[in-house]
Amino acid sequence: MTDYSAQNKKRVMFVFGTRPEVSKLGPVIFEAKREPLIETLIVSTGQHREMLDQMLKIFGITPDIDLSIMEEKQNLSSVTVKIIERLEPVILEYKPDIVVVQGDTATAFVASLVSFYNRIPVAHVEAGLRSYNIYNPFPEEAYRRFISVISSLNLAPTRKAKENLIKEGIKEESILVTGNTIVDAVYWISKDVSDIISDKRIILVTAHRRENWGEPMRELVLAIKELTGMFSDIRFVIPLHKNPLVRETFSSILSEEGRVDLIEPLDYSSLIRVMKSSFLILTDSGGIQEEAPTFGKPVLVLRETTERPEGIEKGVAKLIGMRKENIVNNVKALLTDESLYLAMSKAGNPYGDGNAGRRVIKAIMYFLGMGSKPDEFES
Ligand code: UD1
Repeated sequence: MTDYSAQNKKRVMFVFGTRPEVSKLGPVIFEAKREPLIETLIVSTGQHREMLDQMLKIFGITPDIDLSIMEEKQNLSSVTVKIIERLEPVILEYKPDIVVVQGDTATAFVASLVSFYNRIPVAHVEAGLRSYNIYNPFPEEAYRRFISVISSLNLAPTRKAKENLIKEGIKEESILVTGNTIVDAVYWISKDVSDIISDKRIILVTAHRRENWGEPMRELVLAIKELTGMFSDIRFVIPLHKNPLVRETFSSILSEEGRVDLIEPLDYSSLIRVMKSSFLILTDSGGIQEEAPTFGKPVLVLRETTERPEGIEKGVAKLIGMRKENIVNNVKALLTDESLYLAMSKAGNPYGDGNAGRRVIKAIMYFLGMGSKPDEFES
């Protein structure tokens, strides 16, 4: 007979620090909390502050421990050092059976490194994404690869991600295709979200990535200015990242521009509402590339490379880079060519089916000797 006593529980530690890690680990944490044989410890590094708190509130998650590392204009080295110093004592005291990290942030990388130093197995959610260019996205591509080397359990969102890992010599038995947990989050949030009524075609824009800071971001901003002059029936909605460098570039050129709404970061349900109501989306975010196909919204990706080729292959996203002329031409084409627009607005999400959180937890339990191996997501 199964022994359900507390001593039998396995300790699963979740570590996150930024907004996207919460929206992608939220569905996993919900599932973990439903399992009587799992004891969770939720650790926030506090790499982000307001933006993280906003997301935690939506998901109803309260970290058990907050390492509060964020400071103004932090750099990668200071973030790395502070997380190592503050996370190690927590890991030593709590002695988790496994540490769960998500994606490719500094928090995910450093948490996996500290776990490795202490010989604690790491489960990596959203494993196997690759652009094959360590400077784009910087530093995320390198972080992902480091984490794959260290992880004991690689939870790949798609078949392609699994293939990438196998090519790098990661053992097949350590990989499971789960679907992306963001799709679980989008289904959950969007059921209560209404459309925005607008007499203009809304274009949602987000840009924050390090490789786009400075001149590339200026090109984007100038493209937006030019497009508002060309089309009187469009409205740009631009939730600005809290990073002062990003805010300065947008505000210096667009703050007086009509039909350009420069707004504070939106909470997750408001962002999904704008996304659902948009005509098209311009973004350098990975998460938005994965969310938008649920609503059949064309995505123009403001990057030179993407580690999310599934949307491009399905024809619902297009890589356009950060040159002004290219941005203007691609937006113009979608605003004026109806057949092109319809071809890119196919609904259907190649990244997940809404059950990824469950598969992740079942895979972790299987790894820890509890239960059977879950079926894979068929991507
Ligand atoms: C980080 C991740 C990136 C992810 C992004 C989501 C790394 C290396 N990069 O990039 O993969 O896509 O988060 O946003 O981990 N700030 C605030 N308040 C906040 C959040 C940020 O003021 O709530 C400011 C801080 O001044 C900080 C700056 O934004 O210095 C940059 O934040 P940081 O976490 O260093 O990098 P991101 O660009 O957010």
